[in-house]
Amino acid sequence: MCAAARYGRSMRLHVVDHPLVAHKLSTLRDERTDSPTFRRLTDELVTLLAYEATRDVRTDRVEITTPVAVTTGTRLSYPRPLVVPILRAGLGMLDGMTRLLPTAEVGFLGMVRNEETLEASTYATRMPEDLSGRQVYVLDPMLATGGTLVAAIRMLIERGATDVMAVVLLAAPEGVAVMERELAGLPVTVVTAAVDERLNENGYIVPGLGDAGDRLYGTAG
Ligand code: URA
Repeated sequence: MCAAARYGRSMRLHVVDHPLVAHKLSTLRDERTDSPTFRRLTDELVTLLAYEATRDVRTDRVEITTPVAVTTGTRLSYPRPLVVPILRAGLGMLDGMTRLLPTAEVGFLGMVRNEETLEASTYATRMPEDLSGRQVYVLDPMLATGGTLVAAIRMLIERGATDVMAVVLLAAPEGVAVMERELAGLPVTVVTAAVDERLNENGYIVPGLGDAGDRLYGTAG
């Protein structure tokens, strides 16, 4: 049975509507924001998005003893969630995500977009071969054409992931449409701070925030 038939769910898109999210995103958009401030605000914004993205993280009921009584509590289930930043820019989102999920495992996916064809290709993969039953949080700041995230999410689901949450700072409507079409029926949720107007002819999100990797780390890489 193909994966789409097995899951039969349409992609979920969650745009986080919160004044702190809007405030931090506006400062990220501002071209005058320097790299140190951009990194710190990305970190803070991801933590807010992570709060929403983990709403359905799997948990178990456990018995705990307080200084006063025995009661029932909640703890994250095994297998632990996996967090996968897409290099390079997704690395700037890792600390913000693992702050809320400190026991998560971390895998890495190196992907690069050809700036002429806008096609994504993989140059490094560091994560378990078998992701059966795992919830995976994939981090990439910009959902632009959708090519990178579609390729990454297909790979995660082929390895057995049962739930994939893509956490992105910003999305373009074109990228959302590509993901909805290419990942139809798969267990995928996109959590973002905003869906912008459009992509320009160079594949940049408008109004966007520019090149997220360059704004985080400069142009050396
Ligand atoms: N990648 C970026 O860093 N910015 C965009 O606007 C689109 C893709």
